[in-house]
Amino acid sequence: MSFRHFWHRTTCGLRNMFWAPVVFTVLVVAIVPAAVVTSRAHAQSTVGVQWNTIATDRGDHLPDFSFCGYHASDDPLPSNSSVSANILLAEGGDQTARIQNALNSVASAGGGVVVLGPGEFALSAQGLVVPSGVVLRGSGVGQTLLKCGKLDKAPLVSLGSNDTSSDGVLPFLVANIVDRYIPIGTAQLTVDNATGFVAGQNVFVQRTVTDEWVRANGMADLVLDGKQQTWLKSGLVVKQPRKIKSVSDSTISLDVPLTDALDTTNNLMQASIVAYNPPTNASEIGIEDLSITLSPTCSGAVLGTACDNPAVSFGPWTVDSWARNLEITGFNSFVEVQYNASRLTVQDVAMYRDANAKDAGNTDSALSADVLIQGTQVLVADCSQRGLASARSFSVMTGSLVPGPNAVLRHSAPSDDQIIFPHQRWAHGLLVEDTSSSVRLINRATNGTGHGWAINAGVGWNLRGTTLIQSPPLGVNWCIGCSGKIDNRSNGTFLQTGQAVEPRSLFAAQLQARRG
Ligand SMILES: *[C@@H]1O[C@H](CO)[C@@H](O)[C@H](O)[C@H]1NC(C)=O
Ligand SMILES: *[C@@H]1O[C@H](CO)[C@@H](O)[C@H](O)[C@H]1NC(C)=O
Ligand SMILES: *[C@@H]1O[C@H](CO)[C@@H](O)[C@H](O)[C@H]1NC(C)=O
Ligand SMILES: *[C@@H]1O[C@H](CO)[C@@H](O)[C@H](O)[C@H]1NC(C)=O
Ligand SMILES: *[C@@H]1O[C@H](CO)[C@@H](O)[C@H](O)[C@H]1NC(C)=O
Ligand SMILES: *[C@@H]1O[C@H](CO)[C@@H](O)[C@H](O)[C@H]1NC(C)=O
Ligand SMILES: *[C@@H]1O[C@H](CO)[C@@H](O)[C@H](O)[C@H]1NC(C)=O
Ligand SMILES: *[C@@H]1O[C@H](CO)[C@@H](O)[C@H](O)[C@H]1NC(C)=O
Repeated sequence: MSFRHFWHRTTCGLRNMFWAPVVFTVLVVAIVPAAVVTSRAHAQSTVGVQWNTIATDRGDHLPDFSFCGYHASDDPLPSNSSVSANILLAEGGDQTARIQNALNSVASAGGGVVVLGPGEFALSAQGLVVPSGVVLRGSGVGQTLLKCGKLDKAPLVSLGSNDTSSDGVLPFLVANIVDRYIPIGTAQLTVDNATGFVAGQNVFVQRTVTDEWVRANGMADLVLDGKQQTWLKSGLVVKQPRKIKSVSDSTISLDVPLTDALDTTNNLMQASIVAYNPPTNASEIGIEDLSITLSPTCSGAVLGTACDNPAVSFGPWTVDSWARNLEITGFNSFVEVQYNASRLTVQDVAMYRDANAKDAGNTDSALSADVLIQGTQVLVADCSQRGLASARSFSVMTGSLVPGPNAVLRHSAPSDDQIIFPHQRWAHGLLVEDTSSSVRLINRATNGTGHGWAINAGVGWNLRGTTLIQSPPLGVNWCIGCSGKIDNRSNGTFLQTGQAVEPRSLFAAQLQARRG
């Protein structure tokens, strides 16, 4: 079959994908009408909430999520028509080398846009790396299709770098933090010696994991099948990446308020601030306006194979970049943000799982994620899983020790089998708002390998789906304006339960307040 012939068929296939998920959505609504009706009824009454006065006894405030996204949401995403194509490629044949050469030559010329015309572009498993300053743009969803038959060792499209391991950096300056308790939401700290710290520096506000802190959080005695599970090893460093805004005597102000409290009382932790230079400056990278299909499908595949590779990956340390207006089919992982990537926007990405684990012959209980966040200041907005309602997944998940703020707005999924669910080990500062998806911010205890407390300083805001939110002994997770079914194992801080609240979007309200 010629490519052109196949493309015509695929174009129909893309159209068909629109009605297949609709059928499933209708089925779900028919099966669980009670939950849907309840949340609609509740959503009609709203009550105003003074979000900026919400605080715990120790002074922890809601994290400021408005710093999530491309350029910390200070600037809009570049318009997809503002910059014209530097290189326009037409369809046909295996295009991996041709597209990669075009991307590289635009990068060498100082950055710009590579536009793929309408049609089908075949990619080999080596995939593409979009370099700093370059945008890979299609001619529209359903118009331009990147098609791949097999994954190998790397993501299909990497923004910045296709090496997904996290490069270490060595700090060049260290100072001890002397405050006894710094609540969530604080942007200032006091150090013993601020010499050498200046505005604009990249810093990690960090602290070591101690046995005392692990024990006080109830994580010291996790035993599974007679075996002790280690949640977080003593000595591990928990890092909050920030930039210095200003320095005055021994007080350092940060660009973004902290999303995890620092508590030096009772030997719980020692805290310090270190300055470092990032290993790359990869930024202003985009992928937009196209469809991506993997066929034969990897959806539902057992984890630990080449099928783990995502369609789109933000490489480690990539900043101020985006993925938007995409339709992705047939992957087991769709979008991944690697460690230390930051200020990123994932907007209007529709994902289709076209097989579930059972169909894939996978009897393992481990699930993959639609969207995996391991970086910080990531904004995932208006994205959706639209594939099989029976295809279980972590709809959005964070990894171990992932620092906030990160935000998920108006996410949707076909059923309660796709859960917005931080995965393991003390990620912090995650907002999930205005969604009917099922959300879990919990203690996973011995599950996994002793995944334990998966998230601290999580905020569910105007959640309409099934909700399970718990608070750690040394932390807090909030649920505000949650009107769906509340799982009775919840013990987080619930405010205005059973009705939607105003502002409808905490993210938008915080952004407005910050802009003044
Ligand atoms: C990563 O990208 C480079 C540059 O395109 C390519 O040569 C290499 O094969 C890719 N790595 C893997 C593991 O596919
Ligand atoms: C450009 O973006 C707009 C708005 O996001 C979208 O409607 C349009 O389809 C995009 N253009 C193309 C060629 O895809
Ligand atoms: C980010 O980079 C630091 C410094 O190299 C490294 O220690 C850390 O593991 C990476 N990931 C996170 C989440 O900080
Ligand atoms: C403060 O730090 C600077 C730079 O690291 C160092 O030169 C100086 O000796 C330190 N001052 C004290 C009092 O420790
Ligand atoms: C990043 O940019 C800064 C400022 O322009 C420069 O000093 C630094 O060398 C760059 N780092 C890398 C790894 O290219
Ligand atoms: C652990 O996993 C089992 C099986 O999926 C589940 O029933 C149980 O609720 C989980 N426990 C916690 C604490 O999440
Ligand atoms: C909430 O429930 C979890 C899970 O049972 C438990 O580990 C935790 O200590 C409880 N939190 C509070 C604040 O009581
Ligand atoms: C909690 O809910 C479950 C069903 O989801 C029910 O079986 C159980 O009895 C409830 N427990 C309490 C204490 O209400």
